[in-house]
Amino acid sequence: MPEQQLRIDRCVCHDVTFERALEVAKSRSLSLDQLADELGCTTGCGSCEPYLRRCLATGQVVFHEIIED
Ligand code: FES
Repeated sequence: MPEQQLRIDRCVCHDVTFERALEVAKSRSLSLDQLADELGCTTGCGSCEPYLRRCLATGQVVFHEIIED
């Protein structure tokens, strides 16, 4: 059986997908801080923050690697 691939696609604390976060950010030109105020993402455990930062910079909404920066 193949090893299950890592899939990270949301802020689990607030159940906000990166796809939705990106849509909201783009439609209203929100910064990461403004997005956090609006949707709550990054305000829980904070582990989604580096993914959201990359998501806003590149448009990537699904990740298969751990990002810690
Ligand atoms: S996963 Fe986003 S705040 Fe915890």
